[in-house]
Amino acid sequence: MILVLDFGSQYNQLITRRIREFGVYSELHSHKLTAQEIQDMNPAGIILSGGPNSVYGDNQISCDPEIFNLNIPILGICYGMQLMAHHFGGGVERSDQREYGKADIHVQNAKALFHELPSEQVVWMSHTDKVVQAPEGFSIDATNESCPVAAMSDEDRGLYAVQFHPEVRHSEYGNDLLRNFVFRVSGAHGDWSMANFVEEQIRLIREQVGERKVLCALSGGVDSSVVAALIHKAIGDQLTCIFVDNGLLRKGEADDVMDTFADGFHMNVIKVDAKERFLSKLNGVSDPEKKRKIIGNEFIYVFNDEAEKMKEVDFLAQGTLYTDIIESGTDTAQTIKSHHNVGGLPEDMTFQLIEPLNTLFKDEVRALGTELGVPDRIVWRQPFPGPGLGIRVLGEITEPKLEIVRESDAILREEIRLADLEKDVWQYFTVLPGIQSVGVMGDARTYDHTIAIRAVTSIDGMTSDWARIPYDVLGKISTRIVNEVPHVNRVVYDVTSKPPATIEWE
Ligand code: XMP
Repeated sequence: MILVLDFGSQYNQLITRRIREFGVYSELHSHKLTAQEIQDMNPAGIILSGGPNSVYGDNQISCDPEIFNLNIPILGICYGMQLMAHHFGGGVERSDQREYGKADIHVQNAKALFHELPSEQVVWMSHTDKVVQAPEGFSIDATNESCPVAAMSDEDRGLYAVQFHPEVRHSEYGNDLLRNFVFRVSGAHGDWSMANFVEEQIRLIREQVGERKVLCALSGGVDSSVVAALIHKAIGDQLTCIFVDNGLLRKGEADDVMDTFADGFHMNVIKVDAKERFLSKLNGVSDPEKKRKIIGNEFIYVFNDEAEKMKEVDFLAQGTLYTDIIESGTDTAQTIKSHHNVGGLPEDMTFQLIEPLNTLFKDEVRALGTELGVPDRIVWRQPFPGPGLGIRVLGEITEPKLEIVRESDAILREEIRLADLEKDVWQYFTVLPGIQSVGVMGDARTYDHTIAIRAVTSIDGMTSDWARIPYDVLGKISTRIVNEVPHVNRVVYDVTSKPPATIEWE
């Protein structure tokens, strides 16, 4: 295992990803872990991530200095490098100016990290402070115009550091450098696979649950389906799935989920019709964060009610992903949106949680689904947020507005399927912004709703680009929506990437 300590860089989870792509398990943890806790985890190597802070001043954040005595190889990246240099008495220069973007470095020590890599390479820099003097015992391995110490190491003590970000694709040989750290320096083995993951999780779930019972929130989406399949494999009929029809689902979704899981998978699935409950709680609420919290809380209350009807249910299984946890705010990262299945949990919750996917990225969950024999049609289903259409009707939610989104979304999905674009576009849906505009239909003036189409390409939802759907497909979708969905007289296409926008509009 390679442990990544999080100092708040926007790229920190990318480091973990890259390493897992090498077949080596890696986890991102708080920089507050103690040396003892780290030793107990027994990592082959430790990476100190970048971060926005300075090693000087009030907002300095650090790690347990004892980690430098654990005899475990350490790679410091950006802030991680400055921390290492500062700790060992090197010179870190404060600056108010940020160096951001591509830079050329010159490698002067081709050992260890730079083994068999070219001496001139392009890297991605994103820093303000920099190391200007390597600590005693360290060699300067690379330099560039603005950084006299772009990379440094003390091989005897197993300490390595780079000022640039090897995890970012713009660093030409960044992946090779990380590989060198993971395999050459740390001696990790590339034998981590989904098959191991399944075995390990089944063992953990059985250990945690024993003879007790688990409830699973099944939405029919990739994450909850895979979680249900995994837990079902571990404990069979001790698992009961609850499918809540909250009135915020897409057209035909409720029937589809029941057909697939109750009939197809022979799982114990209870369908709860809670439309009224959700919609009355949401009545008059227009703030997106409030809507998310209400929907999240209501989910749990529905489960509580269902669980009370059953006996001895102790656990609630959720398909929470790594990205949900990271975006909901770790020790260092800012809260961007409180995803309903993390930030929305009420405090009086009586279940223990089982979240076996909470170390996985979306594409890894798909691989896990395939490993578990979940059919492609589900594994490759586009992501659908927990709050459902509730965050696609912007502002206040009403049944007529939901109907417009539901119908327009069904048309969009059908046309994407007919155009054979389902696998090319990562996520696609319609949004009702609540704008009315003037149109003309027949000879009459209309003053009706606008529908926005959002379609994006992405790998894990953390960043995305708008999908280049062919104009004629867009044209057909637009014509059908305006003709077939009452109260829509205009269709627009969202051409914003994430960042700066998010994928959903709320
Ligand atoms: P954003 O809008 O944050 O979305 O760019 C990234 C991915 O997350 C989904 N999403 C959610 N999923 N609960 C969820 O389970 C939520 O509250 C939530 N908000 C956004 C979104 O659909 C996209 O796939």
